[in-house]
Amino acid sequence: MKTIDNLDFKRIIIVAYRLPFSLVKKKGEYQAVQNAGGLVSAILSLSQKMKPSDDGSAKIVWIGTGDQRLENISVSAAVELHPVDIPKKVNDKYYAGFCNDTIWPLFHYFVSGTVFDNSYFDAYVTANELFFQKVKEILKPGDFVWVHDYQLFLLPGLIRKAYPDSDMGFFLHIPFPSFEMFRLLPRKWREAILTGITGADVVGFHINDYTQYFIKSVKRTLGYSYDRNFISINYRICKADAFPIGIDFNKFHEACFTPKTNNSKKKIKKYLGDKKLIFSVDRLDYTKGLLVRLQAYERFLELFPEWHYKVVFNMVVVPSRDMIREYRELKKEIEATTGRINGKYSTLDWRPLIYQYRSIPFHEMIAIYNLSDVGLITPLRDGMNLVAKEYIACQQGRYGMLVLSEMTGAATELNEAIIINPTDVEETADALNKALIMPEEEKEKRVLKMQNRLRRYDVFTWTKDFLNQVNEVKEEKRKLKVNYLNNDTLAKIRDKYQKTSKRLFLIDYDGTLTPIVSIPEMALLNEETGEILRKIASDPFNKLVIISGRSGEFLETQFRDIDATLVAEHGYLFRNPGKEWEQLQDIDLSWKSKFIPLLEDYVDRCSGSMIEDKHASLVWHYRNADEDIAQLRINELRDDISELLKNDPRLQVLEGDKVVEIKSLLYDKGIMANRIISEDNYDFIIAIGDDRTDEDLFKAVADRGFTIKIGCKPTHASFNLKDQSQILGILRLFTNS
Ligand code: UDP
Ligand code: G6P
Repeated sequence: MKTIDNLDFKRIIIVAYRLPFSLVKKKGEYQAVQNAGGLVSAILSLSQKMKPSDDGSAKIVWIGTGDQRLENISVSAAVELHPVDIPKKVNDKYYAGFCNDTIWPLFHYFVSGTVFDNSYFDAYVTANELFFQKVKEILKPGDFVWVHDYQLFLLPGLIRKAYPDSDMGFFLHIPFPSFEMFRLLPRKWREAILTGITGADVVGFHINDYTQYFIKSVKRTLGYSYDRNFISINYRICKADAFPIGIDFNKFHEACFTPKTNNSKKKIKKYLGDKKLIFSVDRLDYTKGLLVRLQAYERFLELFPEWHYKVVFNMVVVPSRDMIREYRELKKEIEATTGRINGKYSTLDWRPLIYQYRSIPFHEMIAIYNLSDVGLITPLRDGMNLVAKEYIACQQGRYGMLVLSEMTGAATELNEAIIINPTDVEETADALNKALIMPEEEKEKRVLKMQNRLRRYDVFTWTKDFLNQVNEVKEEKRKLKVNYLNNDTLAKIRDKYQKTSKRLFLIDYDGTLTPIVSIPEMALLNEETGEILRKIASDPFNKLVIISGRSGEFLETQFRDIDATLVAEHGYLFRNPGKEWEQLQDIDLSWKSKFIPLLEDYVDRCSGSMIEDKHASLVWHYRNADEDIAQLRINELRDDISELLKNDPRLQVLEGDKVVEIKSLLYDKGIMANRIISEDNYDFIIAIGDDRTDEDLFKAVADRGFTIKIGCKPTHASFNLKDQSQILGILRLFTNS
């Protein structure tokens, strides 16, 4: 893993809806005050760990909405702020509308609260474009752009279109819902959102489930091909992966006994006496399960009267999004419910519930985290939930227990907590009692396990991990390049050819020796190409290998009178001149029987398509099917195949021109090429091909010879040839005519 300072980026451009600072008037003067939240502390802490640039300029540049005056305020030497101005009219429909009345409820599975309004989507497009304009002003070569969260789904796509070579990441801080939920969005919005997100090189989610839902939605909506977590988009790769966001563990852990915290604790202890404390803190949000939490507490008081007078629940609700009706209504309901519970159980000397509607200062929060006997975190749905992690980080000296909803991303990491289903009021009430009576040693054992995990994968590891993955994809992009053959290189190839006597030609068939035509049976070798190949093959110092995905029978008809080794079915079968066909190796083909019924189903549902049953692979051809129906079916088929492949990692899917082929991973053109190369001491090797399967061939030959890709796409080959018709010019280099 590279360190932060070793990464190959000059600057990191963070783009998020909000800037990390607000302007606050203090003693008559405006001051920049750091905003709360995981992302802010993650990135600002990262900035402290990065060495400054040689010219002293900031290494982290943050673009987001906020006071325009922040542009000219220096918050730190390492961070520069660039406010984006979104006109109020647009922002109302963008932020309160599409972001928080469409995406937020839908992505948290609140379907009935989701508003579908075209004018919201239009405002979302406009706002993303405004962010893009700001990025354009700031972006320099060598920058890495890191886009955050659901307010900016379209931005990576806009940047990719204008700057195809840029390095970019996207991180989603909320859940990505299952496809059944996501597909409720109109098709146009769905396509725009996914095209936008996949503009990034790396797309991060909190947990693997969200990653898989995202990949499935991309497959079904855009039909991109993929290999595990790698999505291929026109020879560009987008990697989707899980990066559970961490907290600045040490900051929380170490703050537990500072003088400020101790001061707060004294006041709380005085109030509590020997009563136990249950605590929760959340933004006011219907996703946080605030009402069911109150109901569960009420049920707890009903079921366990022995805790009356002995327990206090402090529920802190932080004001949020109060311009949205649902949020205002929720506040009223919470207030009515807390009033009702207190009315029912309070006495002159005991109030079971302390409800506070305000944000709390850091040290006060640490004091309550540290003193609470139970952290009660019960969201109905939450991407991660940092409060749960912060609560665990603050357990020391004495131990409390966390009661945590299984609907949070955090539950996958904090499985030593008492995990509950938040809608099950009985279970939560029971869990509260269990947490309160849990022996100290048991709590200590569970908490220490969770703390170890949180300490190891803290927020710094999270950023490093993400940036490292971006670097890896960047390396991969670097290997894929376009470099057209010029006359100098042609002269070098010819020169080398003439000076050598053990020469190997590895040449693909379709798209290389013949142009791609709409009916594959018509792609026949023309006379002139045949003649040149015959000459090359007849030179005793040359070995000519035709290496193709075609069947052996087809290749035989085309190369009947040419002294070439034929490799069929992408390297599964080969035949040396004058010999019989051989298999590269014995391969278990029992998997075919599982896939045939699936493909037959697709033949029924897509008339005009057909199955080709090759020796070692199965192919679904849809060239003669109705284009629109085939397009729909192909996305479904890819998805169904990927389900079956999960149980069979030895298989791979190749996609060609209107064909989908399922084959074993145990052979490919690269594996076959390596075998042929190792059979002799070749002093001249040339490989020519045109499609994805030839990339294996190019990688196998690598620096051992010349590799040429037909077409303009980025490739592992050393050179590109613009057009298939230029192949004759290359082959003539080797015939002296
Ligand atoms: N928080 C805060 N001020 C408060 C209360 C909480 O800044 O008055 C912080 C809390 O420490 C946590 C964050 O807000 O880091 C809430 O993050 P979480 O993932 O729990 O929920 P979100 O608000 O992102 O939905
Ligand atoms: C969640 C979202 C953030 C958002 C924050 C506060 O954590 O993932 O993107 O900024 O809530 O919400 P607000 O609407 O106040 O920005």
